[in-house]
Amino acid sequence: MKTYQNLKTELKEGIFHVTISRPQALNALNMETMSELGQVLQEAHHESVRGIILSGEGEKAFVAGADIKEIATLSKEEAAAFAKRGQILFKQWEDFTKPVIAAVNGFALGGGCELAMCCHIRIATENAKFGQPEVNLGIIPGYGGTQRLTQLVGRGKALELMMTGDLISAQEAKNIGLVNHVVTTHQELTELAHKMMNKILAKAPVAIAQLIKSVNAGFDFEKTGYEAEAANFGECTTTQDFKEGTTAFIEKRQPQFKGK
Ligand code: CAA
Repeated sequence: MKTYQNLKTELKEGIFHVTISRPQALNALNMETMSELGQVLQEAHHESVRGIILSGEGEKAFVAGADIKEIATLSKEEAAAFAKRGQILFKQWEDFTKPVIAAVNGFALGGGCELAMCCHIRIATENAKFGQPEVNLGIIPGYGGTQRLTQLVGRGKALELMMTGDLISAQEAKNIGLVNHVVTTHQELTELAHKMMNKILAKAPVAIAQLIKSVNAGFDFEKTGYEAEAANFGECTTTQDFKEGTTAFIEKRQPQFKGK
């Protein structure tokens, strides 16, 4: 098995446990971690892997988003390409033909919520918080959030969440269809992830793969939505508001947006 800088992996009875581990940045997805998420998915094609449980290290976060310190300096073209690369990677996860369960403990924000949404099933502990708070930084979701959140919860609720940047509890995420199940403790989360995965692994693997392909095929027409998202993500980074939003985050203060 490969070793990674920002991922911990373990293969146990056919279940590949992938844990994002950058606790100093609440497991934020820097470019290295994104690259590793691609490599680990390649590794998971090996026949010894039957399904993946994806989680975040520690009690505080699944993933707190893309790494804001890295995106703060991107040009429009770099930002659009950055979003496109993330979209391609998350689509590979979504299209993976073995079951993928996101076990969410703590914050799943921005790119973290987007990562959870490209997994086939999401379960969470009651302390988990979900949201697409990019608007606080003067940008929009760039890793498919505008599309997948809308698919999962409907246009009205998705727009509300993305326009307000509100964080919602795991229970509310369950109520709107963003999360499948909520449990109380981290241990229960691990147990439920295993129980659910083993139930799926007892079914015919080809049927499971065909299910994933069939469901995803139904959303293929939405390609233009993803293209618009990447281009518009790039567009946002040309504004003074984006500089203000990211600087305010780094300086730990509220941003003052000017509309330009
Ligand atoms: N990127 C980089 N660093 C991050 C981060 C992120 N997304 N989220 C948290 N961190 C870092 C903080 O800077 C801090 O580092 P220092 O100790 O070096 O200052 C550390 O993690 C702990 O974070 P906080 O001190 O902020 O912890 P908190 O408990 O006060 O707040 C939080 C937790 C509400 C999650 C807050 O950290 C937060 O709002 N994070 C950003 C969430 C966000 O905006 N995500 C979207 C990112 S943009 C994106 O994802 C675009 C896309 O779609 C591709």
